[in-house]
Amino acid sequence: MIKMLFKIKDTSLAIGTVITGKDSPSTQKVEFVLRNEHVKTFRGELVIVHEMIHDKERVTLLQITEIQKVNMYYQSVDSARIYENAHRGFESVFPTDQWEYVLCIGKPLGELVQTELRRVTFPVSPGAKVYRANENILKNFLGFDEHGLYLGHTPTANVPVKVNLDRLLRKHLAILAISGAGKSHTASVLLEELLFRKASDGRINIVVIDPHGEYRGFSEVEEFKAQTTLVDAAEFSIAVKNLSAWDFLTFKPDMSPVQTRELDKIIQEFKKKEDMHYYGLIDLIKAIETKKELKASTRDALIGWLENLNRSRIFSLQDHPDLEEALKQQGRLIIFDLSSRYDSQSKEIITTYVLKQIFKLRRKDAIPPVLIVVEEAHQFCPEGRSSISKGIIETIAREGRKFFTSLCLISQRPVNLSVTALSQCNTHLIMRIRNPYDIDYIGRTSEGIDKMILRSLPDLDVGEGILVGNAVNYPTFFKVRERRVKPPRFEMTLEEAAKQFEENKR
Ligand SMILES: Nc1ncnc2c1ncn2[C@@H]1O[C@H](COP(=O)(O)OP(=O)(O)O)[C@@H](O)[C@H]1O
Ligand SMILES: [Mg+2]
Repeated sequence: MIKMLFKIKDTSLAIGTVITGKDSPSTQKVEFVLRNEHVKTFRGELVIVHEMIHDKERVTLLQITEIQKVNMYYQSVDSARIYENAHRGFESVFPTDQWEYVLCIGKPLGELVQTELRRVTFPVSPGAKVYRANENILKNFLGFDEHGLYLGHTPTANVPVKVNLDRLLRKHLAILAISGAGKSHTASVLLEELLFRKASDGRINIVVIDPHGEYRGFSEVEEFKAQTTLVDAAEFSIAVKNLSAWDFLTFKPDMSPVQTRELDKIIQEFKKKEDMHYYGLIDLIKAIETKKELKASTRDALIGWLENLNRSRIFSLQDHPDLEEALKQQGRLIIFDLSSRYDSQSKEIITTYVLKQIFKLRRKDAIPPVLIVVEEAHQFCPEGRSSISKGIIETIAREGRKFFTSLCLISQRPVNLSVTALSQCNTHLIMRIRNPYDIDYIGRTSEGIDKMILRSLPDLDVGEGILVGNAVNYPTFFKVRERRVKPPRFEMTLEEAAKQFEENKR
């Protein structure tokens, strides 16, 4: 239910007036001229047209799609050329500067009549006044939530962007932008909001797949230390006894059906043995070596696969960490820092195992609802090629919603990110994007994105973004807020790194 509203008493607050254009005002397009040169606006801003219709207030929300300057003196090609040829600019003869106007073109998004929000079915009137949308109106139009996640502010009106938790995350979120646009910063802001969240508002857990160790700071600051578990990939291990032959097939997709079946037999024999509570890859390899009935080629291939996996030093007798233990309480953050692993196979195996375990635990309701943040998602879940972790990410993308397992996929190359996974992300936060292929791709994959928004993507500043999709009623431009807790800086300048290297040598 939307509370009213907007009692406009003072029309001097208006920023502009609706004019009659060639094909406007219509239900699709409204043109208005700005009041004077001191009024600032920007493409994408949300403004309102306020009218009284038979004593009823009608508020129409417009999104500015284009801003143009007009000056009647320069309308005629002929006269402009004649005066310039005579080496006397127009400006020496006419008061041209007083006749420059700013014309804004807006797209009507919806209207509020009394307390009802609905589609625009009738145009606004020429002469109607245009105002900045105030906080109350924007909140209602955009669908913000007082108890939501506070991510930033809308430009000019400076309304806090507070997004409903369920709407933002339930059906997955994708954060897409070039490198340096502020994706990781935004994800950190999201983590802060989730970690600071009151139990009475409903708290969820967070798992971060962090290939570059960017999120380590959460485990170092006083505010979050107690809630956070940092797992360095060098210390991560998988209990071999928890793996089926089909898990091995995921890690080594080149394994043949025959090899997988033989491996399954050996694992089944291990499981039947009373004294075999724990076993490692070496135990499996030994068992294969002594299995005389195996064909030599199968035996050699299996040993080859397992030896290769063994060299990664991920496999062991026990799981570390115990995910169920680490995540069974609410409001927990667990970060998998993969930066100490250089090979993609190890990173993908760790990610696959972690995600599979978590999804399994969530299905059993053994841990609280969880958000899984995947940085560099195009590496873990690529389009057009296979990858060990692709299957589980796509599975969670498709089925996670039912089991309160949400994904936040972060990528600087949306074109290379699995279409299956991306199309399941119902909310997109898009920040600065330059590559025309990526822009074109986003136009096709992000629902509710129009040409105006696409054109503005390269112009966004660091920390600015557009939220589209399930989380908001209309595409929302906003500036991501500063972090509340600044972690110790992990990023050094080139000078600092050079000096530090020199000092360490001494
Ligand atoms: N909203 C913001 N407010 C302040 N600083 C920001 C904001 N967004 C990004 N930054 C800064 O810009 C730099 C790049 O941001 P980052 O999140 O690492 O980009 P990305 O992950 O897209 O490569 C970082 O130093 C970060 O602190
Ligand atoms: Mg980043």
